[in-house]
Amino acid sequence: MEKKLDLKDIVLIGRTFNEYYKMFNVISISKNDKILDVASGVSSFCAEANALGYDATASDRIYCFLAEDIEKKCAKDLETTMKEMAEVKDLFKWKFFKNIEELEKQRKKAYKTFIADFKKPVKVAYVNTEYPKNSFKDKQFTIALISHFLFLYDEFLDYEFHKQTIKEIIKITSEEIRIFPIVNLKGKRSQFVDKLMKDKEFANNKIKIMKVDYEFVKGGNEMLIIKSQ
Ligand SMILES: C[S@@+](CC[C@H](N)C(=O)[O-])C[C@H]1O[C@@H](n2cnc3c(N)ncnc32)[C@H](O)[C@@H]1O
Repeated sequence: MEKKLDLKDIVLIGRTFNEYYKMFNVISISKNDKILDVASGVSSFCAEANALGYDATASDRIYCFLAEDIEKKCAKDLETTMKEMAEVKDLFKWKFFKNIEELEKQRKKAYKTFIADFKKPVKVAYVNTEYPKNSFKDKQFTIALISHFLFLYDEFLDYEFHKQTIKEIIKITSEEIRIFPIVNLKGKRSQFVDKLMKDKEFANNKIKIMKVDYEFVKGGNEMLIIKSQ
């Protein structure tokens, strides 16, 4: 069922396939893998990946809303974010994006590509999901990618939420979960990373940190890999 969009607290900003490629070292993912994008929002990763022959599914709690409403909110959020960006420019590394104009162009491309794909009558790749609850089957996916959702918002989402969400994703993933970034909104490594690595409930899951070839928020160039087996 489609609902009217009334989620003032959510900023609908999405990333492109090229960003995911670097953030998650997608070169190591095969086109035979079944990829789940967790809290995928208005990212164009799923649309672009599927067009390139990957098998990707997007999941987010906004997919119950109308494409038109989501698009309006994206345009507004992008405008506001770009205005604010000028004031906090120094917190970011201007390498992947050369400047604010380039960033805006890419963010616009992401949501426009997403909207075009989301507007298609058959939306099998987009599953409305409010984590940790989900309707996926055990080991339905090979690999899960979590971009700019866990750890980043550690001020608003508590450790229990992180834990329950990761436990659920381990259930539905057969190989591994990749999370990027592992810094919070203050640009500091989230304390939940260490807590999770020491948590007895994940004692059977190998967890490691890997440096990646992507850094936009200064210091945010690492992903966490959790083995599902
Ligand atoms: C900053 S956006 C990241 C979007 C995308 N992963 C990217 O990197 O471009 C965060 C997303 O988390 C989604 N979200 C927040 N809480 C959620 C929950 N409990 N379950 C599913 N999605 C959620 C929001 O709707 C939003 O689309």
